[in-house]
Amino acid sequence: MYQVPRLLILSILIASLTFAQPRTLGESHLSTRISDLKQHHRQGGSSYPYRAKSDYVLKELDLQAGDVVVDVGTGDGWWAEKFAKPVGKSGVVHAAEVVEKKVDQMKKRFAKTPQIKPYLIKPDSTGLPENSCDLAFFSQSYHHLNKNGHVDYLKHLHKVVKPTGRVVIIEKYTETGLGEGTHGTRLSRLVRQAEEAAWVPVRLELMTGTYHYIAILAQQELFPPEQKKKKKNSGKPKPTPAPLENP
Ligand SMILES: C[S@@+](CC[C@H](N)C(=O)[O-])C[C@H]1O[C@@H](n2cnc3c(N)ncnc32)[C@H](O)[C@@H]1O
Repeated sequence: MYQVPRLLILSILIASLTFAQPRTLGESHLSTRISDLKQHHRQGGSSYPYRAKSDYVLKELDLQAGDVVVDVGTGDGWWAEKFAKPVGKSGVVHAAEVVEKKVDQMKKRFAKTPQIKPYLIKPDSTGLPENSCDLAFFSQSYHHLNKNGHVDYLKHLHKVVKPTGRVVIIEKYTETGLGEGTHGTRLSRLVRQAEEAAWVPVRLELMTGTYHYIAILAQQELFPPEQKKKKKNSGKPKPTPAPLENP
């Protein structure tokens, strides 16, 4: 009599454990407590391990209908496609590439997604007008920018991105012992370059299990200088020293 419900409960339990999403540790809404020595080990061998966390990245970006995004070095447009939905038909995703063949392939692929606009760029500029974008996005493309051209590129983006806009960079965390090879950017170098180009990191986060970080930058101008504190006795006349007797 009681066998059927018990079996049913057991199979539901097994199914939910089997198909449950892996817990995405170390993300900004979760604790950074290290509960497992292997917690930060790289998961999987894909070149884009952080793609598995695209929902999390999209949540961080919080794109809205009508937003204008430039995906710099978009490749095959994997992220451009993800951005197309939240920006909607009133928004634009400029899918910027330096390789003409990739642009042609994307034009075919996204023919029915009018908000995705694949186009060819020069290696040192997005070619977009001033104050035209809400977000400039780089996924493993920042290190491809011209050698010693990163600060100039970020200065260029300072003009292209609106005052409330952001630059978001996902890069492999190389030269720290974490990643392998040179296809990435040391985080401290990125921060130095960003600061030099008047960008302030509002979030820097290692994406646990991917050996990649996500850096979110906002315009320096959003941070006006702090007001100088008034001195405690300001306003009160300074006491005049007593005259010296028998000088
Ligand atoms: C590793 S792929 C990343 C592709 C894509 N962002 C992704 O995550 O799927 C790097 C891309 O950057 C592009 N690229 C190379 N130099 C560039 C430059 N100076 N400006 C913009 N993109 C560039 C390459 O053509 C390539 O498609």
